[in-house]
Amino acid sequence: MKQKKYKVTIVGGGSTWTPGLLKSLCVKKEKLPLKELVLFDNNGARQEPIGKFAQILFREENPEVEVIYTTDKEVAYKDVDYVFCQIRTGGFKMRELDEKIPLKYGVVGQETCGPGGFAYGLRSIPDMIEIVNDVRKMSKDAWILNYTNPAAIVAVALDQVFPEDKRLLNICDQPINLLKSYGKIVNIDFHDLKPVYFGLNHFGWFKHLYNTEGVDLLPEIKEKILKYGFDPADKEERDPSWLDTYHMVKNILENYPDYLPNTYLQYYLFPEYKVSHLNKDYTRANEVMDGREKKVFTESKKVIESGTAKNSPLAVNEAHADMIVDLASALANNTNEEFIMILRNEGTISNLPDDAMVEVNCVVGNIGPRKISVGNIPTFHKGLIEQQYAYEKLAAEAFFEKSYKKALAALTLNRTVIDGYKAKKILDELIVANKGYWELL
Ligand code: NAD
Ligand code: G6P
Ligand code: MN
Repeated sequence: MKQKKYKVTIVGGGSTWTPGLLKSLCVKKEKLPLKELVLFDNNGARQEPIGKFAQILFREENPEVEVIYTTDKEVAYKDVDYVFCQIRTGGFKMRELDEKIPLKYGVVGQETCGPGGFAYGLRSIPDMIEIVNDVRKMSKDAWILNYTNPAAIVAVALDQVFPEDKRLLNICDQPINLLKSYGKIVNIDFHDLKPVYFGLNHFGWFKHLYNTEGVDLLPEIKEKILKYGFDPADKEERDPSWLDTYHMVKNILENYPDYLPNTYLQYYLFPEYKVSHLNKDYTRANEVMDGREKKVFTESKKVIESGTAKNSPLAVNEAHADMIVDLASALANNTNEEFIMILRNEGTISNLPDDAMVEVNCVVGNIGPRKISVGNIPTFHKGLIEQQYAYEKLAAEAFFEKSYKKALAALTLNRTVIDGYKAKKILDELIVANKGYWELL
């Protein structure tokens, strides 16, 4: 039987993650055969260089595919099979404010956690709703794979607006990044490490890590981290702030030894320590603008000038990109592979609310993800998750109802803030900074 070929559209085609995704689509062309690839961005100036890079790379590595770059929604969403969503409303300039404003008040400044994540969430929600509506007008059966951040709040909001949409999926790459790094500790390819994970997005734990013989390696990995520390698998490519973030896993384990934590938990468990170690004048946004973003645009230019992507440092596939392409392939080929995804709880974690958007294991085939039951979780994790979920829910409600009251309640509930006066001061400054993106009454 002739294998079907698909149309894939990358929304946020000018993203710094697009080159890796392009390479992955070339390397995995047998798993996800394409007929057409569209890069779509609402910023033509960002889209053009990466679009040209894509055309050169595909001409060399996947020449049967028609590669188009555009700012036209019709071209992007008409008869599309897979939509990969990676937008950043407000760009890195707004990310910088998300990170710097809370830090002024001694509160964690982070892209997805705390008040920064709140402000970013309220910017992402309306754009994501518009994208889903536009896609559905033109391609009612397309799979929409979203990883636009803050994925937790975006998933909660989208679930409220599109509760029946079974083809709208939210996923994050941090569990896979961590898995790859654990694998390195015990010299096992991460594909051979079977995780059991639970929590919320950027707020979860690994409960088990089984090898192919069914032995749980979690105790051994914990022991090694406690002894030797923890580094990302791709340490050489990482900026200093990410190395610090991984190093903190040891500190988390020393205090809360039950499970292996997602790195993002450090912002909630040790907010004061994190604030004292974050540079108020040069945050992660600055690091990305000076690093990854600059590299992507400088190197795309070089590829365009030389007419070849061979040997380009951008033409490398990494865990993040592979995960997205593997997910699309699991849906296309009904592989029933396991992924960790953000899904409506509905009893998966028995002692958490049904409507929570939890991050758990699932099996993915052509009917979408099927969740794997977790059972009850311990009181400590349950308590933390319930508080964080209340925050996520209130953040989404604050957006829909334009409610200042709910926004303030949300920030007060967030473990990175806690203090009501601080919450108010930060919220008031975020409102001014986000004028034109969102408002509260
Ligand atoms: P970026 O700013 O380089 O890329 C985002 C692109 O989206 C930009 O080119 C921008 O012009 C475009 N854009 C913004 N709004 C748009 C809209 N409404 N329609 C179409 N295009 C739009 O940022 P980045 O660092 O490359 O990250 C992109 C996104 O992917 C962010 O939300 C980031 O947090 C997310 N991300 C998530 C994960 C995860 O684990 N969930 C992993 C990696 C990246
Ligand atoms: C991790 C997270 C993502 C985040 C990414 C990049 O992979 O899971 O949600 O977008 O890191 O973060 P950075 O700070 O490098 O932009
Ligand atoms: Mn993530």
